[in-house]
Amino acid sequence: MNTPLRVAVLGTGTVGQVLATRLVELGHQVTLGSRTADNPKAQAWAAQTGGRHANFAQAAAAAELVINAVSGVHSLAALEAAGAQNLAGKVLVDVSNPLDFSGGFPPTLSVCGDDSLAEQIQRAHPEARVVKALNTLANPIMVQPSLVPGEHILPICGDDAEAKAQVAALLESFGWRSSQLLDLGPLSQARGTEAWLLLWTRLYGVLGTGMFNLVLARGEG
Ligand SMILES: NC(=O)c1ccc[n+]([C@@H]2O[C@H](COP(=O)([O-])OP(=O)(O)OC[C@H]3O[C@@H](n4cnc5c(N)ncnc54)[C@H](OP(=O)(O)O)[C@@H]3O)[C@@H](O)[C@H]2O)c1
Repeated sequence: MNTPLRVAVLGTGTVGQVLATRLVELGHQVTLGSRTADNPKAQAWAAQTGGRHANFAQAAAAAELVINAVSGVHSLAALEAAGAQNLAGKVLVDVSNPLDFSGGFPPTLSVCGDDSLAEQIQRAHPEARVVKALNTLANPIMVQPSLVPGEHILPICGDDAEAKAQVAALLESFGWRSSQLLDLGPLSQARGTEAWLLLWTRLYGVLGTGMFNLVLARGEG
């Protein structure tokens, strides 16, 4: 097991709860963060798992590592509520996707092309060490990669090599093999991993399941 960490998982949706539960199972001290400290979903999760819950700012303040698992359209607001001072110097794993469902399904992206949500988060919190990861696949696979057979991949990116190494170690503790982790380079590569959701959501619509992932079949040369 990795050294136990104090982790804040910001977001009480399915993704936040799945990640927070796995982290508790792995022996980390986990606080699930929400807008208010009396969030019933967070309270129920804490009672069930032995984890803690708090508002975004309290959760981030107490943590060594922070995970953003808030809806894309609300991520900047949630991280602003978490507080720049509580994120400074910390690894911030960004799992969010900038999906805009206001026009129905499939969603559009609220930011794309020459920018990404991950970069917006990094610009808003220049002292945080943002690593984009886990946003490219369905939440059950995030914490149990063996649900999909074979050498399927998990792209990660970020500007801080040490932060990426720390996140890679955490992902390996979830069951990812190092050969499955594909370091795409700087955080601006999140433009690609977030835009993948345009195809991911369409595949989901056609296949009727999110239980699939990317496999790179390479040719010679
Ligand atoms: N579903 C998947 O398998 C999957 C896979 C990859 C990536 N993702 C990404 O993971 C993220 C989380 O997804 P999810 O479905 O678990 O949760 P979600 O429903 O997208 O987000 C839930 C969180 O959003 C917060 N929130 C809502 N309105 C807000 C506002 N006005 N200001 C600040 N915060 C607000 C909620 O706060 P309260 O707790 O206070 O209510 C809650 O914590 C999303 O960005 C999604 O695109 C999802």
